[in-house]
Amino acid sequence: MNLAVFASGNGSNFSAIVKAIKQGKIKVHSVILVCDKPGAFVIRRAQKAGVRVILADRKDFSSRKDFEAAIIKRLSCYKIDLIALAGFMRLLSPAFVKKYRNRILNIHPSLLPAFKGTHAIKDAFEHKLPFTGVTVHLVDEEMDHGRVILQAQVAIKPNDSLASLEKRIHSVEHKLYPQAIKLFYSGKIKSARGLRC
Ligand code: GRF
Repeated sequence: MNLAVFASGNGSNFSAIVKAIKQGKIKVHSVILVCDKPGAFVIRRAQKAGVRVILADRKDFSSRKDFEAAIIKRLSCYKIDLIALAGFMRLLSPAFVKKYRNRILNIHPSLLPAFKGTHAIKDAFEHKLPFTGVTVHLVDEEMDHGRVILQAQVAIKPNDSLASLEKRIHSVEHKLYPQAIKLFYSGKIKSARGLRC
């Protein structure tokens, strides 16, 4: 049970996953971080937590194929059996998805299929809906698409600002993602749906 978390930026979900592992809530033999951005804050989080970092800067490769091939080579060295995308700002190629079919999870800050894309929280906020949420799903060839594993609803309160809503969504993410990873490793992913935070 070896997990790779892919992240490009802040890394709060990465930290939540590592914390759950350290607390024994997820039984994982090893965890690594794969990051595509040399200056990303998530790298500092990983170093502080003692997690091995694989840095794959797209600029160092002439094609996406070479970039992904380098990542795949490292993943096989560490015998990775699950990839958790956590703010990884790249669409993986169909060939990559095929290689790890049903072994790539993603977390998205909306109740998919609503509000795909990079501005999901803002989009839901501006639609003045009573609620939005968080989705963990299996990754397929389409962006923010694939079988839903867990979803949690998050209320949009009348006095919410975008910042307060974002904060509440992120704190739900930090509970939901470790739960989904735990389900994957316990082989329960097929029947798991609609767990609430
Ligand atoms: C999260 O909101 C996640 O849902 C989305 O990207 C964001 C990553 O945040 N896919 P962080 O880097 O984990 O803080």
